[in-house]
Amino acid sequence: MAEKEPIGVIGVGWVGLCTAACFAELGHHVYARDIVSERVDALSRGQVPMHEPGLSELVGGNAERLHFTTDMGEVLDNASLLFCCVDTPPTYSGDADLSRVEAVIADLGASEGHAIVMKSTVPVGTGRSIVRRFPNVGYVSNPEFLKEGSAIKDFMSPDRVVIGADDGSQGFADRVEALYSTLDGARVRTDVASAEMVKLASNAFLATKISFINEIANVSEELGADVSEVARGMGLDDRIGPKFLQAGIGYGGSCFPKDVSALKQLAGNTGYHFQLLTAVIEVNELQKRRTIGKLQKHLGSLVGKEITLLGVAFKPDTDDVREATSLVLSARLQGEGANVRVYDPVASEGAREMLGGATIADSVEEALDGADGAVLVTEWAEFAELDWSAMRERMNVPLIVDGRNFLDGPSLVEAGFSYEGIGR
Ligand code: UGA
Repeated sequence: MAEKEPIGVIGVGWVGLCTAACFAELGHHVYARDIVSERVDALSRGQVPMHEPGLSELVGGNAERLHFTTDMGEVLDNASLLFCCVDTPPTYSGDADLSRVEAVIADLGASEGHAIVMKSTVPVGTGRSIVRRFPNVGYVSNPEFLKEGSAIKDFMSPDRVVIGADDGSQGFADRVEALYSTLDGARVRTDVASAEMVKLASNAFLATKISFINEIANVSEELGADVSEVARGMGLDDRIGPKFLQAGIGYGGSCFPKDVSALKQLAGNTGYHFQLLTAVIEVNELQKRRTIGKLQKHLGSLVGKEITLLGVAFKPDTDDVREATSLVLSARLQGEGANVRVYDPVASEGAREMLGGATIADSVEEALDGADGAVLVTEWAEFAELDWSAMRERMNVPLIVDGRNFLDGPSLVEAGFSYEGIGR
């Protein structure tokens, strides 16, 4: 059997490590470089520094093909397709911060025979600007569409693989396409700018879908409809589809808020006012804050009230707290004078500073003891499995605001709770 093409991965954060581990699983030798030596050392010992189902097993099972290093030279000597997986956080202006991408390009210099394969989410136009400055280096855009919590599955069973290349890099693009040859899913071969736009537009569209259903939820509350029923009825139209119509207390995470804002700013920089995205962002911000009103409806002033946040992570099955709704709620509730306690199965310790003065509980029971109300922020399975009748006995006021429409509302009401969902 022909030897599989070795690849390089630059930046071994969540995207980089998932990419490296999956390509190693597909039989490639992967030379993965990071500038943080502690991370490289830990990974070389098989220690995975993040919570992602199945990732540790892949890293452990493919140890002989995974080479972690801090040395860019080692990567360049062994691989010519270099997957750039560094992060592109938002700047104060809402534009993406490309300094880490720039540092990678600077490290590469003008090395002939290599191609950057961009997995990091970058503004449309980034690829062409890099090619103008480094004409000797090949450039392929290959955006990632991985969801935290199901990244390995998303990589191995993609809906589509998008590969963007301009003249001069088509040969490299063919080699990138070949890396995915054993995986299902449509192939989209296009130019670099369009590939960059597919990524931003996909995230912006999904965020729009969420803000749309959240507005339908808010109007449904006023008019007596149930948004879950509405979403079910809408989703059966296959032009609409059932996914991402789950109303709640807003989207978070390291991608949607950043990418929606980046696309809006990108449009703005060209003089185009992307009105729809402005509304999507504003609806999401207001959605988080509506929780306070739901608590006040039952409790009046929140001064001195003990409020529990169930869940800190931006979604279940991850310890990621970036742009998590819990952080906004913790600060807002404390701003209203409430005492906040939080519980999350994995994410609270890492968020201690961001949670301000909130008390971190070690168990749900401890978090609910004497509480005047609880907000379900993250739909961790263990919250649905709780003995809620027993929890009711622990609480001072049996009030639940179910921010993800995750719990069985009618059973909670039967058990003596006041229950507030979203849009029902
Ligand atoms: C998202 C995209 O789904 C991926 O395709 C993309 O690759 C990734 O961003 C990225 O750009 O790297 P992720 O941030 O892991 O993935 O999270 P999602 O599962 O998409 O959820 C995002 C947020 O939307 C969460 O806060 C979730 O609670 C919220 N959400 C999702 C809703 O409020 N309602 C829904 O119906 C779905």
